[in-house]
Amino acid sequence: MRVIVIMGLLVLGGFGLLAVGYAAEQASLRAEAVEARAASQMFAKTLKSQLIAAIKAGGPKSAIPVCQQIAPAVAKQYASDGLVIGRTSFRIRNPANAPDDWERDVLVGFAKAMEKGVDPKTLERFAFFPDKSGGKTFRYMKAIAVTQPCLACHGSNVSPAVQDALDKHYPDDQATGFALGDLRGAFTVRKVMPKS
Ligand code: HEC
Repeated sequence: MRVIVIMGLLVLGGFGLLAVGYAAEQASLRAEAVEARAASQMFAKTLKSQLIAAIKAGGPKSAIPVCQQIAPAVAKQYASDGLVIGRTSFRIRNPANAPDDWERDVLVGFAKAMEKGVDPKTLERFAFFPDKSGGKTFRYMKAIAVTQPCLACHGSNVSPAVQDALDKHYPDDQATGFALGDLRGAFTVRKVMPKS
């Protein structure tokens, strides 16, 4: 009898510890998501305002370097926090932005949700990925929908001047033909967590 009681207590204690560990893990996951969400929003805002300004100043062709150079510029701002931030898509312009397996799965999920009418602004996914050395990596993705300023370079009526420039720099470009409200891709954030 006593053995059964002790075993029961051990099992209960084990569950208790697991529950505490789980709650701490969830809290840390949520905290990372707050940071990654803010970084993605900043990225989106900076991209949009700089694109609009550059298009106004010199037309869409002259704005091509903005979409090109903004990613490394924004990424630099977050590097000191250990965040690696980029963009990916099913239909890429720059092959360096190709999705990996997890990113592809998440993009499929975003596309399905949007087919059901979910607002892309609300679409995000995040998780910890354990690695072999006992550490883990936080990963986050946030959907990017096509808005008006994007169409000059990602729409179906791209001007000949822009098309020429795109052909020159991105011979394998798959990132035109998008319509307003389409899923353009996603911000993708990664952070190797310090070992606790
Ligand atoms: C002036 C032209 C131009 C406009 C306008 C533009 N883009 Fe781009 N976009 C580009 C170029 C050029 C690249 C390739 C950047 C690189 O080399 O990494 C790109 C790449 C991207 C990528 C990375 C994935 C890929 O295909 O390589 C995303 C996502 C993206 N653009 C979204 C947007 C969104 C959203 C808007 C509107 C807010 C927008 N772009 C407006 C030219 C443009």
